[in-house]
Amino acid sequence: MERYIYKAVEKIKGQKVFSMPGHKNKEIFDFNMTSDVTEVIGTDNLLDPEGCILNSEKEVAKIFGVKDSFYMVNGSTGALQVAIATATNPGDEILIQRNCHKSVYNALVHNDLIPHYINAKYNKKYNLITGIELDELEEKLKNNNIKAVVLTSPNYFGLCLNLEEISKIVHKYNAFLIVDEAHGTHINFTDNREYSAVNYADFIVHSTHKTIPSLTQSSILHLNTEKFSRNDVLKRINLYLSTSPSYLLTQSSEFGIDFMEKFGYEKLKENEKNILKLKNDLKGKVEFFNGDIEDDTFVYYDRTKILFRIPSLNGFEIVESLFLRYNIRLEMGDLDYALALSSICDEREDFEYLKGALEGLSQISSEKSKEFNFVKEINPEIVYSPREAFFMNSKNVLLEEAEGLVSSSIIAAYPPGVPIVSFGERITKDIINDINKYIKIGIEVVGINNGRVEVIA
Ligand SMILES: Cc1ncc(COP(=O)(O)O)c(C=O)c1O
Repeated sequence: MERYIYKAVEKIKGQKVFSMPGHKNKEIFDFNMTSDVTEVIGTDNLLDPEGCILNSEKEVAKIFGVKDSFYMVNGSTGALQVAIATATNPGDEILIQRNCHKSVYNALVHNDLIPHYINAKYNKKYNLITGIELDELEEKLKNNNIKAVVLTSPNYFGLCLNLEEISKIVHKYNAFLIVDEAHGTHINFTDNREYSAVNYADFIVHSTHKTIPSLTQSSILHLNTEKFSRNDVLKRINLYLSTSPSYLLTQSSEFGIDFMEKFGYEKLKENEKNILKLKNDLKGKVEFFNGDIEDDTFVYYDRTKILFRIPSLNGFEIVESLFLRYNIRLEMGDLDYALALSSICDEREDFEYLKGALEGLSQISSEKSKEFNFVKEINPEIVYSPREAFFMNSKNVLLEEAEGLVSSSIIAAYPPGVPIVSFGERITKDIINDINKYIKIGIEVVGINNGRVEVIA
């Protein structure tokens, strides 16, 4: 057969990588295909670990200072679903940060949960989504019977919530705190460890593949409450995970953590200097976000994320131009910003190369106008519960004709996969306009096929 996938990947090899995975496609692993084994004599069973996997998980838990850790082979997607399935029972109410990843919304369907939402705030001056307000969090917990709260910290752009205060509020109302720290595993190997969710949450999710050197799809779930046992979590892991979990993935998470323990602290400090130099050298040409803004909805900004904008180009144009002209792969571009991810695997010459390319780009001007103030708080009209909506009869209609209808799927801009509309929510004129803006500039929107969306019949 034609090897389409192979060819596509071959074509983008050799790029400078400022996106995931954290290993940056550099040859740093000390294992290879000969390590692709299964449960045989001498190995262990991820779904019921008793040997090498258990020993490794125990050491991981010690490193992160949590009660228990579990290797996952279905990304943070799987880890979030296991965490939510452990913390809740069908019919429970759950409070979700509206800009959570779509895997959290999918868990609402799996577990038949009733969602309440809290919006992250929109900082108009910087045209950025920041964190949540604590008063609002408390209000929602006071007025509803919430079993679990799911928050994202750091967010895609590196902003970390005040989890110390948040955990006090959540626990005051006897709810469980699940923190999606998919983008923040590395914070635990820096002087800023105090901002990591491992210190405060009951469940913490780490996409090892995103920010430390491990293979795509590898991740870890940590349990940090006495209210659930290791077996409670393993029971759910058995519901969700393959019976042939990849030893390449589990080994790569183990490798990544070992690597970070050995070299993370020093190397990330070195990167910090290189990033600072890049920012200083590009002053006046590129506008970098440094987190130094007046906004009390977040407490720390993770500077391994290089978030920037160039006045003459929108974020997507930056991503496209760096790809086509400079062979650089960025993580994301939206209507305004572009995001470059750094990791322990970057070297000084990588930052120098990025600097040269950005210098070049800053001289280009675009025909397209930039969009500002596009980000809105989403306060959806929930017509049916996510599970109800998912199983109702549906039909496909043109997006333009969907105003007033109820969605039976998720529509999300990708990356990072934050839903604009979820199961059972009414589609409004504003939502249609937002989706059209994303599509117009070339951002991928999942949940739309040939201009059609799935709605309840
Ligand atoms: C905040 C956040 N959480 C969870 C996920 C899902 O993680 P994974 O890709 O490891 O399944 C993503 C993916 O982009 C994400 O951005």
